[in-house]
Amino acid sequence: MKLQQEIERRRTFAIVSHPDAGKTTLTEKFLLFGGAINVAGAVKSNKIKKSATSDFMEIEKQRGISVATSVMGFEYGGRKINILDTPGHQDFAEDTYRTLTAADSVIIVIDAAKGVEEQTRKLMNVCRMRKTPVMVFVNKMDRPALDSFELLDEIEKELEIHVHPLSWPVGKGSDFRGVYNRFDRRFRSFKGISKQTIGELVEYADLEDPKFQKHISPHGDRLREELELIEGVYPDFILGDYLDGRTAPLFFGSALNNFGVRDILDCFIQVAPCPGPIVTEERRVDPAEPKMSGFVFKIHANMDPNHRDRLAFIKVVSGRFERNKAYIHVRSGRQVKFSSPTSFMAEKKSVIDEAFPGDIVGVHDTGNFKIGDSVTEGEKLKFTGIPSFSPELFRYVENDEPLKFKQLARGLDQLMDEGVAQLFVSVANGRKIIGTVGALQFDVIQYRLQHEYGARCRYEQLPMFKACWIESTDHEKLKEFRLRKYQQLAMDKESREVYMAESPYALQMAQEKFPEITFHFNSEF
Ligand code: G4P
Repeated sequence: MKLQQEIERRRTFAIVSHPDAGKTTLTEKFLLFGGAINVAGAVKSNKIKKSATSDFMEIEKQRGISVATSVMGFEYGGRKINILDTPGHQDFAEDTYRTLTAADSVIIVIDAAKGVEEQTRKLMNVCRMRKTPVMVFVNKMDRPALDSFELLDEIEKELEIHVHPLSWPVGKGSDFRGVYNRFDRRFRSFKGISKQTIGELVEYADLEDPKFQKHISPHGDRLREELELIEGVYPDFILGDYLDGRTAPLFFGSALNNFGVRDILDCFIQVAPCPGPIVTEERRVDPAEPKMSGFVFKIHANMDPNHRDRLAFIKVVSGRFERNKAYIHVRSGRQVKFSSPTSFMAEKKSVIDEAFPGDIVGVHDTGNFKIGDSVTEGEKLKFTGIPSFSPELFRYVENDEPLKFKQLARGLDQLMDEGVAQLFVSVANGRKIIGTVGALQFDVIQYRLQHEYGARCRYEQLPMFKACWIESTDHEKLKEFRLRKYQQLAMDKESREVYMAESPYALQMAQEKFPEITFHFNSEF
């Protein structure tokens, strides 16, 4: 197949939600509909086993929280679909943000009883920033749910995006009968509902069919009225609005019962974008360019406890990726060859000979890769849009075993390259500071330093509110700021200046007093 055809066939998306909304269940059902697995429950039960597909890390077993982000590929309707799973837990939000940089579109799962939750709102902010096309799946309609119209309003208001309901639920809770698909104008439900398999499809194209009316009785009149209303408010679905990230097509359903799952999947493969051009600091890279380029968006440590090496996830951006071909690791300028690059199909990880734009390739890394690194055929490209976000929790980190100083330094360095947290050095006292977005990260770091690097660390609280990168062309003002805020200044790993505000008030005052200085809340500016 030609490169262009391979590109057009690929759909790489991230699935995100607040924990418990049903992301894992929906992912499994996608795999089930794609024929990639035979029984749902496989992905989940694997989480507990060592050979887990979506969660590899030891810490996961310890805490039962999904901390890892993984990739699952499958074929459906002639498309090669790559699902990027994301940790729902808010302490790992940054991991999720970075995964979004490798996704060409996003599906957001919302719990119909809870509506928009905190984590979803934050994730949507990142999608908006990147103008990522978003689809919404309103899940758990088989449970008592909020009113569907109210849900639409809430989602529009809270996520600050227009929605366009492409399906509509018939009944809800224990009386949930199925979903009317406005996209292909069919009603669907399933007989012999099973959590694990698909069951028998019941489908009607004619809403006036007496059999259909009987099937959904007594909801017939209500469905007619609601559909009329919906047609009035949301007349036509405009593809361009979805692709520009202005409107989110929305589907109702119940992932557990399979209702509505095929509807979103079928629409997704028709409308979701294939991999497009990506901006680098140097130029725009088009996927159809013959030369391979890609970037590392995730580094996964410790998948096999017997081997301490890491797996770096590369998103292929352009050209054809080939096994054993010599590429250049742009940051170091070194040549790299990947003898056993892996891809992820459903639950299986397998060595591949080639990959195409949109694909995610896992390569073994002995500590050379860093999040954001590019791999090319020689051209110096730096992909943008993989920022670090302002951390909000800080602790001084101290070595707890004097003889293990080197191990600690190496461990910290590698964990930071993986993007577990950010390391700063205080200007005033030279002490190392770890900044994170979630409290759990500190435990993860401590645990991993001990188990992977044989180093022990101790923390000391540092009650700061937020770190922001500062920048100004007014050198005098910058000098004055440095003098005034000497105690709160630090350097990040790239030796860029960071101001650690003690409180929202302190930050506001600093911004007001020093309008000449720009305070950045993510590292890319
Ligand atoms: P997450 O990945 O977003 O965190 O959510 P997950 O799929 O793990 O789902 C969270 C819980 O919600 C699970 O129940 C799951 O079975 C349930 N669930 C998911 N989709 C639906 C749905 O459409 N309807 C209903 N009624 N429940 C749904 P659990 O009790 O935590 O786990 P399990 O024992 O059922 O596996």
